[in-house]
Amino acid sequence: MIQAGGPGKSGDRGRLPLSDNYFWRVSMTGRYSPECCPEYLKPDNFQMLKDGLAERLSVHTDSVLGFLEKHDGPISRFALSDHMDWLSGRYFPLLEAEWQAIVDRAAAGARLIWRSAGSQTEYVNRAGVWVDMGGGTGANLEYSDPRIGHLAKLYVVDLSPSMLAVARNRIRRRGWQNVEIVQADATSFRPAEDAADVVTFSYSLTMIPDWVAAVENALAILKPAAQIGIVDFYVARESPADGWARHSWFTRSFWPFWFAAYSVFPSPDHVSLLHRHFAPAHFVEGWAKVPYVPLIRVPYYTFVGRKRGEA
Ligand SMILES: C[S@@+](CC[C@H](N)C(=O)[O-])C[C@H]1O[C@@H](n2cnc3c(N)ncnc32)[C@H](O)[C@@H]1O
Repeated sequence: MIQAGGPGKSGDRGRLPLSDNYFWRVSMTGRYSPECCPEYLKPDNFQMLKDGLAERLSVHTDSVLGFLEKHDGPISRFALSDHMDWLSGRYFPLLEAEWQAIVDRAAAGARLIWRSAGSQTEYVNRAGVWVDMGGGTGANLEYSDPRIGHLAKLYVVDLSPSMLAVARNRIRRRGWQNVEIVQADATSFRPAEDAADVVTFSYSLTMIPDWVAAVENALAILKPAAQIGIVDFYVARESPADGWARHSWFTRSFWPFWFAAYSVFPSPDHVSLLHRHFAPAHFVEGWAKVPYVPLIRVPYYTFVGRKRGEA
């Protein structure tokens, strides 16, 4: 299906915008117009090429894989267009090798742009290592299936053997070959690869007594510019940072007291420590329903951030 006009506009599904589609124009009319042509042919951009930008181009006649194998330095931007569609249908192992080469050469924080109409896209992120700290029964992994199959490895780390037994059954049932259960402490666990692309804590940070050590361990494991994702209960500081939620004295006092009975410790310090160590890509503070207790709402946050300093 063709989806055009930007995300979320369901009325646009199936429509193809023609006004700036230079592929369409050139095939129907045989020519481009100044407004509807590739970016490099637009008058201002073409002038920049003539004024010297073209001298900075280095042209290689090679396959993408061939080029990457000969290229030494890190690459920060990849524009791959749609050549993978063709490889996907005919030479899938070559496509996998190409992606591995891209991952190997990509600089920290590199960006890629491509489009693909292939139905088999497991080459994307195959090299990724995800560590789910305090992963419990692995119930959250259900939300990520079928993308789990694209990962190099997913570790579900938890201290509780009974929770992990449930996770083990789930993994067997699901047939996830690349998921490993590890009984270990989130404050000290290290993956065999000694590095991770993503570390998550889902409602586990509040149950880890030395949660600062757990965050610092995640920081040590994560590759440069790699991501952390957290969802958990919390309470705001008495004087939160500008733009952050404020909680009443009652909220700040009641929830830590109530949760303590369940060995859960919502902290006013999670969000500031996370912002200090990670550049936030997403931070939302909200109120969640409490199971079986109508009308009551408990404060929680979701945070996704990149390891600071080395992007
Ligand atoms: C509330 S459960 C969340 C489970 C799962 N992440 C989820 O969202 O469904 C918290 C989990 O953290 C685990 N946990 C507590 N302290 C831990 C530690 N120091 N290291 C690893 N896991 C820990 C507990 O055993 C428990 O399974």
